[in-house]
Parts: sequence; C-alpha cells; structure tokens
Amino acid sequence: MYKTHTCGELRPSHVGETVTLAGWVHNFRNHGGVTFIDLRDRFGITQIVGNPEVNEELAALKAARSEWVLQVTGEVRKRIEGAENPNLCTGEIEVDVKHVKVLNKAKMLPILINKDEEIDENLRLKFRYLDLRRETMKRNLELRHKTIKFIRDYLDNQKFLEVETPILFKSTPEGARDYLVPSRLHPGQFYALPQSPQQLKQMLMVGGVERYFQVARCFRDEDQRGDRQPEFTQLDIELSFVERDDIMALAEGMFTELVAKVVPEKRVFQTPWPRITYSEAMERFGKDNPDIRFGLELVNIGDLVAECGFGVFENTIKAGGEVRGINAKGLGDYSRKKIDALTKYVKENGGAKGLAYIALTSDGQMRSSFAKFLTEDVKDAILKRMDAETGDLLLFVADQAETTFESLGRLRVHLGDLLGLRDPNVLGFCWVIDFPFVFWNEDEERWDPSHHLFTSPMTEDIPMLETDTAKVRGQQYDMVLNNYEVGGGSIRIHDGELQQRVFELIGLDPDVAKERFGHMLEAFSYGAPPHGGIAIGMDRLVMLLADAPNIREVIAFPKNQHARDVMGDAPSPVEDQQLVELHIDIKEGI
Ligand code: AMO
Ligand code: AMP
Repeated sequence: MYKTHTCGELRPSHVGETVTLAGWVHNFRNHGGVTFIDLRDRFGITQIVGNPEVNEELAALKAARSEWVLQVTGEVRKRIEGAENPNLCTGEIEVDVKHVKVLNKAKMLPILINKDEEIDENLRLKFRYLDLRRETMKRNLELRHKTIKFIRDYLDNQKFLEVETPILFKSTPEGARDYLVPSRLHPGQFYALPQSPQQLKQMLMVGGVERYFQVARCFRDEDQRGDRQPEFTQLDIELSFVERDDIMALAEGMFTELVAKVVPEKRVFQTPWPRITYSEAMERFGKDNPDIRFGLELVNIGDLVAECGFGVFENTIKAGGEVRGINAKGLGDYSRKKIDALTKYVKENGGAKGLAYIALTSDGQMRSSFAKFLTEDVKDAILKRMDAETGDLLLFVADQAETTFESLGRLRVHLGDLLGLRDPNVLGFCWVIDFPFVFWNEDEERWDPSHHLFTSPMTEDIPMLETDTAKVRGQQYDMVLNNYEVGGGSIRIHDGELQQRVFELIGLDPDVAKERFGHMLEAFSYGAPPHGGIAIGMDRLVMLLADAPNIREVIAFPKNQHARDVMGDAPSPVEDQQLVELHIDIKEGI
C-alpha cells in the first residue's frame, strides 16, 4: 500500500503515530529553511512539514512544485498553538516528515487546482482530468454517486430489477435526430443509438419483468443548451399493472426521501407535490416547467383591453392574440433604464415586440407607457385584476399566445432571480399533468404526439381521438423542479389496435409503421400487460441538487456547447480504410 491513511483522516488522536501519506502538492511554502506542503488526495488535505537543511534526505520536499505526486512517511504531531487551521478537518495536526519519495513530477499546469477562480470552460474541458482535481468537481462527482447509489438501493428494496438494454438498436424516436452507426457486416444498413430505452423497457414488460429500472445512457442529436447534452443519463423506470398515480407516488416518495438523505441542507418546497394541469401551468406561469416557489403569476387582461384605446393592445386582440401581465411586486420605483433592460430581456428571450408598463411609485404617483390612452374605468379594472398596490410595477406583453407565454414565462423567472425569490436550497417539485395528447404541427400539417408515440390517451378521451382530437388528453406526466423538466413519463398503449389507431392519427404510413414498429405491435399481440413508466434526467437533477449552473458541471467528460469532446478531440476524421469497410463514401461540399 502506498499510504496508511488518507489526507483527510488524521486527527489529534493520531499524534505520535508514524504514518505514510501519498498525494498531490496542493500548496507549498518555505519559511526559514522549513518546507510546508499541503498534501492533497481525494479525501482531504494534510499539512506536511520538513527541514531539508537539517535532514538532507528531505531535499525533494523543497524541490517539489504544484501537483507533484509525493509519498511521505513521518510522525503525526500537534500544530503549535495559533497555527491550527479551522478550515481543514486535519487542521489541528501536521506530519513531521522523515522520508519523502517523489512518485511523479508535474509540468506547469494550464489551470489552477488550488484556487476556485473562473477559468475558460473550453480550457477546463480540454484538461478535464486536471479540472476534476478541483474541489467543486470532486464534490459534484460525489453527489452524483450518492444520488445514484441512493436510487439503486431504494428501487432494489422495492423489488425492481436493473436490466441493461442495448446501445446498438433501432431508432427509438423521442423527438430528436438519431445518432446512426453504420454496419460493416450489413452494407448500407445502420443501427441507431437509443434516444431512450423506451421500446426496450416496454418489451421488458411484455417479457414479464414487471418492475424495471436502469441508469441508462441516451443519445440525441439536437441543438445544445445548458441543460442538454448529446449523450446524457436517464434513470429509466417501467412497471406493469400500474396506473398514473402509482408511478407518480413512486417517484414522489423516492425523491422526497432522497432530498432528506442525500442533500439534508435542502428542503422540498411542498409535499405532496402540487399537481398542475398543462393549461393551468401555462395560464399561471407561462410555461409547462414552472418554478412554483414564488408568485408573480401571469394575469390575463385581454377582456379588459379589447377596446381600451391603446392601439398595441386593441390590435393584438383583434388579430386573435392575447394581452397578459405580471405584477412585479415592489419594483414600482424601477427607473426607466431598468424597465428598458426588462424590455430588452423579453425581446431577446421569448420574442415579445415590447413591454408595456404601469409603475406605481412609492410616492403615490403613476408612470406608464400607455395609461394615458386608457379611461379611468379600464385603468382601475386592470389595477384591480392585478392586485396592484403602491410600489408595484405592472408589466404587459401583447402578442399571439405562444409569444406571450414564452416572453412572460421567462420574464417571471428573470424577475424571480432579480428579486432573490429562487432559493437553491428549496426544491419546488411539482407534477404537470393532462397534457394535450397531440399538438398540431403547422409546417407538416399533421398531429404530433406531445410525449411519444407509445403514450396512451386518457381512457375517457379515446372515443374523441379522431373527432375532437385537440381535446384529447394524454396519460402523461412531467416531473418539474425549479424551472426545469427533470422527468417525464406516461401510461403506455398496451393494445395493438389502439397503437395502430394512434399511428394513423399522426399520419404514420402503415407500411412505415410496420417496418419501424412492427416488433412492438407483434409483441403487444402476445398478452402485453398494462404498463407505464417514467424517466428522470439524472444530469439535470444532480445539477439542481449541486446548485451547478449547467449539466456539464455534473458530467465527468461532457461535450462542449458545440457537441465536441475537446479533450479527446471528437468527432474527428477516420482512416479511408475504415470508411471503405463501412461502405461509406464522403461527399465533399454538401
Ligand atoms: P423524455 O424525452 O421526456 O422522456 O426524457 C426524460 C428526461 O430526460 C432528460 N433529458 C435530457 N437531459 C439532458 N440532455 C438531453 N438532451 C435530454 N433530453 C432529455 C430530461 C427529461 O425530462 N422515454 C421517455 C420517458 C418515458 O416515457 O418513460 C423519455 O425519454 O430531464
Ligand atoms: P410604442 O407605441 O411602440 O411607443 O409602444 C408604447 C409602449 O408599448 C412601450 O412601452 C412599448 O414597449 C410597449 N409595446 C409595444 N409593443 C408591445 C407589445 N406587443 N406588447 C406589450 N407592449 C408593447
């Protein structure tokens, strides 16, 4: 063994013992011939001390530089009074070094390990193996491990089986582009990397597994964002003989307990988790992944302003649009400049054309970009509807529904940040349910599933599938946390005929359906049990538990924002011979 103890282990009770430590030079300094080194390993930091002038054998101690790897043997002793370091759990002791061995030297590092300063992210990713030595990254990896360990134990206790499913499979659409893998043995044919194990977990239900989970890697070729990666990890779950409530209860119980055990410094905002219908979520928060921890909810004033005299509002209503507002409580004294900044924000985030306002300043005055066009009655009605008081700032967007929701939904979260209403130690879990089963796709002129192809419509809505399609609700649920969709799932169709009807509804050609999903339809004809499940985005969940700004911070080796691995430099060109074997011809300039 290279070490008798870790660098985080020694306490005053070890004083007098001879120990061997091994780790990296975190900091070093020389004082009057004596060398002090903070030696670091994954478990902590211990101060080691030696005097090369007295003991020549310790010359290496003086020569050592940042991130050299040392092995030292010495005696644990109490630090002299006043030299204790209360920030270190080993801060009361130090090791008086008798022998030192340099296990490896290090070049000057491109990034600093011992300071928590802002470093260019691409540099961090290129040298990720160094970045991982930093305290924050270590903590994030530990938290991720603890989260997954808790989940594995919890589900094992509930008689779930962890089953691995293939990475080389057939396309499993979840709404993104597939990553394809060309086959050498079958010229011109491709595997698709799974966007999720959706079809396979349903096959496991047909296979009688009943309670399945997997910490599953998923692959989606989509535009990158802070909460998206081309490959990411789902906690994937599927159960047989269950209804929607059973699955929501399972997830709710598991994650509520997880918070108490894994991040006890945080608390769940509300239990049982609120259940909000899709339309209520849009009306109140402007988005289907709301942050429920604070108010500032959207208010519809469309009916009040249809003929109010303010052209922007009137014309929007005439054109079939909407006028909604937010009461930004307490911002009534916001300067013109600050309101302009909010206007810029909604233009850039959500595409609003402007932001009309009424400011009720604390000295009892009113400033407004449009109130002069209104009659007293209309103005009073707006103030009343919005619960306006002295000191409030009312902000309005007039546009088509989608833009109104998008702009105000984002503005609300932005205001939540500005007003300090988004405490990362409070976890606002909620369920969003009763989504429309399908959405009309204007460009393609067809219905698209709002979750995925295998989601079941609400039983009572099935008769309306073809006749009143827009009103049909899906048996699906999104698990939402602090403005992020962290999970989603549904009760599935387990009946081949209904699945066939849904394929027809969304305009999937029967031959194409058979070619792509024939195996599912066939499986359903051999006694498929009723079943349903959920998948939780582990990266997003751990990001929120870790208070990290994006999911790359909780992934050991993520891709950058251009979907590149900058450490290994992938994707990259391959040998011509490999392409020949794969029957692939690269066409330049397309
Ligand atoms: P869905 O597509 O909603 O459902 O995905 C489930 C959860 O996975 C996370 N997620 C992502 N995380 C990081 N990067 C991405 N590119 C990414 N895409 C999705 C989200 C999301 O809520 N098979 C269904 C689940 C089911 O029906 O059981 C599915 O994959 O947190
Ligand atoms: P204007 O008539 O363009 O000078 O706009 C008057 C006020 O209405 C300004 O505060 C604009 O920001 C605001 N405004 C303009 N278009 C919209 C819109 N679509 N929704 C909300 N406010 C708007």
